[in-house]
Amino acid sequence: GCQSSGGGSQTLTAGTAPGFPPFEMKRDGELVGFDVSLLEAVVAKSDYELSGWDELEFKSLIPALNNGNVDVVAAGMTINEKREEAIDFSDPYYSSNQAIVTREAGSFSPSSLDDLDGALVGAQKGTTGESVITEQLVETGTIEASAYKAYGNYVLAVEDLLNENVDAIVIDVPVANSFVGDRPITTAFVYETGEQFGFGIQSGNEQLASALNGGLTAVRDDGTYQELTAKWFGQ
Ligand code: ARG
Repeated sequence: GCQSSGGGSQTLTAGTAPGFPPFEMKRDGELVGFDVSLLEAVVAKSDYELSGWDELEFKSLIPALNNGNVDVVAAGMTINEKREEAIDFSDPYYSSNQAIVTREAGSFSPSSLDDLDGALVGAQKGTTGESVITEQLVETGTIEASAYKAYGNYVLAVEDLLNENVDAIVIDVPVANSFVGDRPITTAFVYETGEQFGFGIQSGNEQLASALNGGLTAVRDDGTYQELTAKWFGQ
């Protein structure tokens, strides 16, 4: 949790869920990615200090904030009303939609959610990709509830797609782009969700919210944000 150190600055433990390139992933055993670099740059603009990173499953991040095990979440987490009942968010720092990803070599090439009729579809537990499946495919009767396969992370989902255990996975577009680049899979179509990622914090922690928002403004103003997007997204 937040701890005051002698100098009056407070240390923060950050939480994330690796396996979500290029936002957070393990490279030679080290946690790296856009979220990691961005949060570090943002916190460096504030009176806070980052003491370290906890790696958790995505679905455990909001509980970890609420029980005080982490102070800030940087995990490509979409800001939405349901989550805002439990936690607060910083200002948005990245936009995303959902990609429907299939095997490149397969004959299955859906171009709309309706085309997923009868397909086996995967996503990471607790994500907005999962919500697309439950709300737009299961609840509409396009697929059976049992045709949804939930994974602890997207690396496992992509492996299962390659192993032909699912026909498609629903995953944030920038992450799909990263996986598609080095595996024989392809984005069949994009489902527009208009999501915005924010850093998650405990409800009511206005001091931290304004520190993070100030830091986000500062890294946009001094070019750091641009450098980081160029580095991690090549744009
Ligand atoms: N943007 C999606 C969501 O908020 C997926 C985030 C998954 N993040 C991760 N680090 N695995 O649900």
